[in-house]
Amino acid sequence: MPLRHLLQHNRDWASQVERERPGFFTRLSHQQAPRYMWIGCSDSRVPANQITGLDPGEVFVHRNVANVVVHSDLNALSTLQYAVDMLRVQHVIVCGHYGCGGVQAALDNARIGLADNWIRHIQDVRDKHWPHLSKLGTDARLDRLCELNVIEQVLHVAHSTVMQDAWRRGQAVMLHGWVYGVHDGLIKDLGVSCQSLAELMQAYPAAIAACGVALPASQLPVLSSNLAPPAP
Ligand code: CO
Repeated sequence: MPLRHLLQHNRDWASQVERERPGFFTRLSHQQAPRYMWIGCSDSRVPANQITGLDPGEVFVHRNVANVVVHSDLNALSTLQYAVDMLRVQHVIVCGHYGCGGVQAALDNARIGLADNWIRHIQDVRDKHWPHLSKLGTDARLDRLCELNVIEQVLHVAHSTVMQDAWRRGQAVMLHGWVYGVHDGLIKDLGVSCQSLAELMQAYPAAIAACGVALPASQLPVLSSNLAPPAP
């Protein structure tokens, strides 16, 4: 059964856009020049363009289960590299969302199948912050882990060779960590915006403290450049 209603919606939408903004598609067909890259959850309730009011051509999108950035994920890293090196985006946004099924599965130790290995990355975040999370009730624990997962994924983006190289050559690319409320449609900024590892090191303690996690300085992560050995 062909999905006639979706194809009809598409034709209606395309003609409406062309009517309101003649030449829109012709202009876009020549090149895309988005200012933003979005790394978000695959969840159908969190469409990047719609919730930020952006048009086609304005945001370059990568989505996966629970907006995870893993250093060996060639899909995410290739997308990030294309966005930063070729499209020269000015902002990379990691956006999680409250009520994330992937984060919930991590908390529940749910056995789903292959995805368990993917969810394990979120369980690593859970375990890192467990002394704090374990003190919370069920709902607050899920909310805080949704937030902490975003903050930790921003760290991973910052540690990628793509961002390290971009910052080393002086390219202005800012990272951001956001979380979206599927219950109210609002985005919350988690306060980890940064344009360098040094800025992230400044922002990280305050950002996790806002999630209720107060780590002593000795337990804060060391953010090291991939391109130079740590200072002695
Ligand atoms: Co999700």
